[in-house]
Amino acid sequence: MKIILLHWRGFIVVGLLVIIYGCVSAQETRQPVKAQNTEPQITTQINQDPYQKAVVPLTTRQCGQCHFSIFEKIRNNGGKHKINCRDCHATFHSLRPGMTWSDVLPKCANCHAEEHGPAFKECLTCHSDPHAPIKSLTNLEILAKGCNTCHVDQDKEIKQYESAHAEMSCSECHHTQHGYRPNCNECHTEPHTEFVDNSSCMICHPAHSPREINFPTTTENRVCSGCHDEINRTFTAGTKKHASLQCIFCHSERHGFIPDCRECHGVPHTKTMMSRFNNNCTSCHGDPHTLTLAE
Ligand code: HEC
Ligand code: HEC
Ligand code: HEC
Ligand code: HEC
Ligand code: HEC
Ligand code: HEC
Ligand code: HEC
Ligand code: HEC
Ligand code: HEC
Ligand code: HEC
Ligand code: HEC
Ligand code: HEC
Repeated sequence: MKIILLHWRGFIVVGLLVIIYGCVSAQETRQPVKAQNTEPQITTQINQDPYQKAVVPLTTRQCGQCHFSIFEKIRNNGGKHKINCRDCHATFHSLRPGMTWSDVLPKCANCHAEEHGPAFKECLTCHSDPHAPIKSLTNLEILAKGCNTCHVDQDKEIKQYESAHAEMSCSECHHTQHGYRPNCNECHTEPHTEFVDNSSCMICHPAHSPREINFPTTTENRVCSGCHDEINRTFTAGTKKHASLQCIFCHSERHGFIPDCRECHGVPHTKTMMSRFNNNCTSCHGDPHTLTLAE
């Protein structure tokens, strides 16, 4: 009989018809096996005496059979609180008249110290649901009182550099939920020029100091020329070697940075020659973008 079973298993991949036939056939062959099991069934019946087995504590899944929404919340949003219910709820179903919620429900302090120092003692004012401790950080009014304390760097940056953003509250941008990162386009719909990628404003503008514009060294000239059209036209018309350079190669560091010729060239001429022209390179070489030697 075993051989027959193995035989059918062996052919399970052969085809649907064969499988269906196999099932029917296997059922037929299994029936006698059941009949042989009558003896063990008697012991099972004895074990089914409900008072024989030790009482085991409810498991988390069993709590979840009644407290389904809590179970689901922890499963989906519990984060590091995905531990067993009874790790926290050492006692439960023990609320009696004369007792309060806080008498029976677990305390954060059972497991946590003052996580953010003594200024933030009332854990549940911010972490309003212990079953979703991070996802429930939505009470922005309370949270807002602490932005500056916990995020010293961002607070310092936004105050240090003058900008319209410094006039706004943190949660005007970081709304809805703690940690939410806004998209610039939520408030700024106007595109710069067609050459500026509107989905990556932060490549140039730091969110907390938007006027400290920094271009990445890969910025293409067309990005600059979108706003500096005239310079770009003279620049590309030039015949000297500067014409092959990237704008950003010279105007590095930050937007508006003006380089000194000497940083790259030193002083390639004699002192007497230079002093006659006030040490000014451009008085002879002219516009650095074209380098048309002055007559
Ligand atoms: C990390 C600890 C922790 C875990 C894990 C936890 N709880 Fe809680 N639970 C609490 C705390 C703290 C409160 C009290 C909240 C309050 O005072 O608002 C609470 C409140 C409750 C309440 C009463 C308030 C309500 O929201 O209905 C029930 C019911 C409850 N928990 C069931 C469960 C069940 C079921 C599980 C497991 C599926 C579980 N808890 C897992 C900490 C926990
Ligand atoms: C057979 C259903 C059932 C099971 C299983 C169950 N509970 Fe409850 N539980 C209730 C009911 C009903 C209440 C009272 C109504 C309410 O608050 O939802 C309650 C209330 C609670 C409360 C708040 C009141 C109090 O007295 O503490 C907590 C906490 C709690 N259950 C935790 C648990 C935990 C933890 C488990 C698993 C170890 C669990 N429950 C298993 C039905 C159940
Ligand atoms: C039974 C112990 C226990 C209790 C009670 C408890 N916690 Fe926790 N909590 C933990 C453990 C364990 C972690 C995970 C710690 C780790 O990995 O560093 C944790 C992590 C957290 C986290 C980080 C969660 C994440 O996903 O990153 C927060 C927030 C938190 N707890 C808040 C609370 C608050 C608020 C309370 C009271 C309402 C509380 N806890 C009660 C055991 C507990
Ligand atoms: C003013 C609001 C506020 C209060 C009050 C508060 N927390 Fe937090 N907590 C936060 C915020 C915001 C975070 C950061 C969440 C994140 O990582 O996204 C946090 C993170 C945590 C973490 C995760 C650790 C980490 O550094 O990522 C734990 C654990 C925690 N809190 C426990 C507590 C406990 C315990 C209390 C009470 C003693 C408490 N919190 C009070 C707002 C608060
Ligand atoms: C109790 C301290 C605390 C308070 C209050 C707090 N934060 Fe946080 N915040 C944290 C911690 C801890 C992190 C996680 C830091 C990390 O991951 O490096 C965080 C992360 C963030 C992040 C980054 C989230 C991400 O995805 O990386 C933003 C944005 C943020 N907080 C904004 C705010 C704003 C705005 C406020 C005020 C409305 C605020 N926070 C209040 C502690 C706090
Ligand atoms: C919640 C709305 C909001 C968001 C999100 C926002 N801004 Fe602003 N921003 C403003 C307001 C309001 C002003 C001042 C009025 C104006 O210039 O439109 C401003 C001004 C600016 C300015 C001019 C600065 C000045 O001092 O004149 C720049 C540059 C800027 N934003 C860039 C950005 C960038 C880049 C992002 C994304 C990182 C961004 N903004 C996200 C609201 C927002
Ligand atoms: C004009 C909108 C705006 C304002 C106002 C604003 N932020 Fe942000 N913040 C952002 C954006 C956009 C990011 C995402 C930056 C990124 O992804 O590089 C961010 C990122 C953060 C981060 C994550 C870490 C980082 O630097 O990338 C923290 C923390 C933060 N902000 C805190 C604050 C605090 C605290 C305030 C108030 C003092 C504040 N923000 C004001 C738009 C803003
Ligand atoms: C390639 C770099 C770059 C990118 C990308 C970029 N900007 Fe700018 N942005 C600039 C420069 C340069 C200025 C001009 C600064 C000045 O006026 O001194 C500017 C100016 C601004 C101003 C102020 C305009 C005014 O009239 O005062 C706002 C607002 C602004 N940008 C928002 C944005 C937003 C929103 C995005 C994304 C959609 C974005 N920028 C993407 C470089 C960039
Ligand atoms: C969104 C438009 C915009 C883009 C893109 C832009 N600029 Fe500008 N740029 C301006 C404006 C507006 C000014 C004048 C602002 C002022 O006087 O402060 C300016 C001024 C300058 C100045 C002169 C600063 C001074 O002190 O006279 C230089 C140099 C400059 N930009 C170089 C560049 C370079 C290089 C790029 C590309 C990497 C670029 N800009 C991209 C708008 C832009
Ligand atoms: C070889 C280095 C170099 C390159 C490449 C270069 N510049 Fe300049 N740029 C300068 C120098 C030096 C000055 C200062 C001129 C002065 O002081 O008269 C300047 C001045 C400027 C100014 C401000 C003065 C004015 O004439 O309005 C702008 C805007 C500017 N450049 C944009 C650009 C753009 C856009 C590109 C690319 C198309 C570019 N530059 C490429 C060196 C360079
Ligand atoms: C960021 C560096 C940088 C700055 C700043 C810079 N140059 Fe140049 N310059 C170059 C490079 C690179 C070349 C090309 C060298 C080569 O290919 O041999 C060049 C070439 C030249 C040449 C030779 C042109 C030719 O076609 O033979 C002159 C003249 C010159 N620069 C003058 C100046 C003057 C004047 C200034 C200031 C107004 C200046 N440069 C600023 C990098 C710079
Ligand atoms: C008195 C006018 C004058 C002044 C001032 C002047 N140059 Fe020149 N420079 C010239 C002449 C003429 C040449 C040779 C013709 C040419 O190569 O275009 C030249 C050539 C150069 C070359 C090309 C050298 C080579 O080996 O190919 C560089 C680079 C240069 N100058 C940089 C500078 C710098 C940087 C300054 C300022 C510190 C400066 N010049 C000031 C007149 C001047």
